[in-house]
Amino acid sequence: MSVEQVRVELGARAYEVRIGAGLLARAGAEIAPLLRRPRVAVITDETVAALHLDRLREGLGGVAMTALALPAGEATKGWPQLTRTVEWLLAERIERSDLVVAFGGGVIGDLAGFAAAVLRRGVRFVQIPTTLLAQVDSSVGGKTGINSHHGKNLIGAFHQPSLVLADIDLLATLPPRDLLAGYGEVVKYGLLGDARFFEWLERHGPALAAGDTAVRARAVTRSVEMKAAIVARDETEEGERALLNLGHTFGHALESATGYSARLLHGEGVAIGCALAFELSQRLGLCSQEVPSRVRAHLRAMGMKVDLADIAGDLPGPDALMALMAQDKKVRDGQLRFILARGIGEAFVSADVPADVLRGLLVTALAAR
Ligand code: NAD
Ligand code: GLY
Repeated sequence: MSVEQVRVELGARAYEVRIGAGLLARAGAEIAPLLRRPRVAVITDETVAALHLDRLREGLGGVAMTALALPAGEATKGWPQLTRTVEWLLAERIERSDLVVAFGGGVIGDLAGFAAAVLRRGVRFVQIPTTLLAQVDSSVGGKTGINSHHGKNLIGAFHQPSLVLADIDLLATLPPRDLLAGYGEVVKYGLLGDARFFEWLERHGPALAAGDTAVRARAVTRSVEMKAAIVARDETEEGERALLNLGHTFGHALESATGYSARLLHGEGVAIGCALAFELSQRLGLCSQEVPSRVRAHLRAMGMKVDLADIAGDLPGPDALMALMAQDKKVRDGQLRFILARGIGEAFVSADVPADVLRGLLVTALAAR
C-alpha cells in the first residue's frame, strides 16, 4: 500500500503527516533526518508498549530508544503523570535538540506533546498515533495538554509536532469499542464540512469497522486533509478551528459528568454530542428533522452510542449539565458558543443559542433515558 502524505502548512512550523501501512517498520528512516544524535525518548502507555513497543524498537534500527510506559487511560492525562514524564525526560538527559516520540492514543499524544512543550522551554516531538482517534485528530494540529478538576484539556499549550507517522496496521489491535469511539471523530469531519465524505462513510463505514485497511487509510487521509487545512488557516482557534469542536461542548460535559471513566470514551461523547448538536440545530429552525435523523441513523447503523440513554448509570440533571458546559474553552465573555449546522457538511459557530432551547433539548434527552 502506498503512503499518503498530507502537509500541515504552518510556515516555519510546517510538517508532514504520513499515512499508510508498514510505517512503524521504517520509523528510523522516517525520523532520522530530524535528529541531531541517533537517540529518541519514547512516551507510551502500558497497553501499547506490550503490543507494539518491540516493533517500534526494531523499526527505529540504528536510532537508540529509551522508553517510559504510563498507565493506559484518560486518568493518566493529569498533573501526576505529566510531572513523572517531565522528570523522567530530564533524568534521561533529553536535550533541547533531541526528539520526544509520542507513541499511543490521544492521551499519550496530548500528555507527551505537553511534556515536550514545557521541557527545557520546548523540545521537538514526533507523533506516532496508535488509535483511530489519534490518527484522524489528536496527533495533528498541535493541541497538547492535560485535564483539570475543573474540566477537560484546560491546561496545555499549542506545540506542533515535527512529523506524524500514522501506521494503519496499528489499528488492527485496537478493541472495537475504541475503534468506534475514534470513528465518532471521523464522522465529525463529514458532518462539519464535507457532505460527500459523510455519504462515503455511510457506504464504507461498515468495511472500515470490519478492518479494511484501504478504507481505513482513505478515511484517515481525508480526515487529516480537512484538519490540516483548517489548522493552517487558524492554528490557535481564533475562529474557524472551533468547527473541529462539533459535538464537543455536549461531549466534554458528558465526559466530566461520567468522571472521565470507562462509562464514556471521548469519541463516544463526541458522537452523542454531534447527534445533540444537530438536534439543537433543528430546534433552532436551522435544518429539517431529516438531517438529525440521518446523522443518528448512521451512528446507530455503526453500533455507536447515540443517545444519553446509551450511557450507563446516573447522569446529572439539565442545569448541572449546562453548568459543566459553561467550562467549555469556547466560552467568550461568559457566553457559550456552539457549533451548529444548516445541513450535513454545513457547520458554523454560533453564540446565539437561547438557554431555554438548550435546556429543553437536555430535558427531552434526559427524559428518554
Ligand atoms: P487513549 O489514548 O486512552 O487510547 C484508548 C485505549 O486504546 C487505551 O486504553 C490505549 O491503551 C489503547 N490503545 C491505544 N492504541 C492501541 C492499539 N494500537 N491497540 C490496542 N490498544 C490500543 O484514547 P484516544 O481515544 O486515543 O484519545 C482520547 C484523548 O484524545 C482524549 O484525552 C481527548 O481529549 C484527546 N483528544 C485530543 C485532541 C487534540 O487535538 N489534541 C483531539 C481529540 C481528542
Ligand atoms: N480536536 C479539536 C482541535 O484540534 O482543534
